[in-house]
Amino acid sequence: MRISIIKEISSREQRVAASPESVKLLLRLGVDVLIEEGAGVLSGFVDESFQSAGAKIVNRSECLNANVCLCVQMPPKEDIDKMNDNTILVGILNPYENKNSFSDLIHNKITACCMELIPRISRAQSMDVLSSQANLSGYRSVIDAAEQFGKAFPMMMTAAGRVNPAKVMVLGVGVAGLQAIATAKRLGAVVSATDVRIATKEQVESLGAKFIMVEDEEAQNAETSGGYAKEMSEEYKQKQSQLIAETISKQDIVICTALIPGKPAPVLVSEEMINTMAPGSIVVDLAVEAGGNCPLSKLGEIVIHNSVKIIGHANVPGRVAKDASALYAKNIVNFLSLFIKKDEKKIDIDWNDEIINAVVLTHNGALKLEEFK
Ligand code: NAI
Repeated sequence: MRISIIKEISSREQRVAASPESVKLLLRLGVDVLIEEGAGVLSGFVDESFQSAGAKIVNRSECLNANVCLCVQMPPKEDIDKMNDNTILVGILNPYENKNSFSDLIHNKITACCMELIPRISRAQSMDVLSSQANLSGYRSVIDAAEQFGKAFPMMMTAAGRVNPAKVMVLGVGVAGLQAIATAKRLGAVVSATDVRIATKEQVESLGAKFIMVEDEEAQNAETSGGYAKEMSEEYKQKQSQLIAETISKQDIVICTALIPGKPAPVLVSEEMINTMAPGSIVVDLAVEAGGNCPLSKLGEIVIHNSVKIIGHANVPGRVAKDASALYAKNIVNFLSLFIKKDEKKIDIDWNDEIINAVVLTHNGALKLEEFK
């Protein structure tokens, strides 16, 4: 059985779907591992490191001729067309944005697995790419803010005077938000955070940050059974907007991480709010790829508005490419272990498994996920 890893072709993608460590784990499943030449260059993994781990370095065509093909982003049509019938394609395939690839996957009978759709259940935690990548995004968002901020984060008492600590506010306290809080705290900032899910209060406070929230009746039911945020009513949005407006003018740095699955990101930081911030302040909009929590943020750009820098970097996990690749690759190995039967050296997919049913987008010439039909 051949498992291959292709090189990413998007100019915005620095990650790769394997690490030398994951290659060793794949080999233990009793498979051959093929890696496209130069696939790990941008994430700091050279071909020799993959080779020493036991992988074979090959060209792209050879890579596409495999039983299982691993990637980060959806490959282009020309690659999908070259894959064999029943190839299992595993990646962060982004079905919401890549609907035009569905017909190619169906036509070529690809079993396409979307790693970002792994359900948030205990058994699947080790496969959860949203968490592994969001964690690094949250960390990196604070580092990116610190890089652009013309002041220090920690309080410093010096003979020449006192440097006040930076004030950081985090909007949205999921996986990325929690890591942003932890990172800003480690750097010495005074941190506050808000979310619509009341469950986050304890998490924020346990990290030593201050929790701010509109605590009305609606907020008691703002969480879906899956643990995600619901879209809030107009009335709640207005109350929340007032609360953020009052707080934001006193902040040096705002980290935006609020998302609602399958919907545009909620708008939380308006132009008027930005206008109240001190010159030199920073807004990092991690939600920019989902439309942004701030309407002024632009994907892939740092916008300067009224002397406030609004950072909208694309693919933030890719800015920590080596760790992001290594964790993503480990998530994939754990996922493949569900259906690669080492002893029989065969693929045996259990179609009653809730993880499989949640992630397989296309199989055997049909679209499987109801949501995308
Ligand atoms: P996410 O990336 O979908 O959203 C980020 C945060 O934004 C969330 O905390 C959400 O409540 C918040 N948000 C949405 N709308 C907002 C608004 N209008 N104002 C302020 N905040 C807003 O969330 P993520 O990081 O994927 O986590 C979602 C949930 O999944 C959490 O409950 C988390 O604990 C849970 N989770 C469960 C895992 C598991 O069981 N395996 C693994 C990871 C997360």
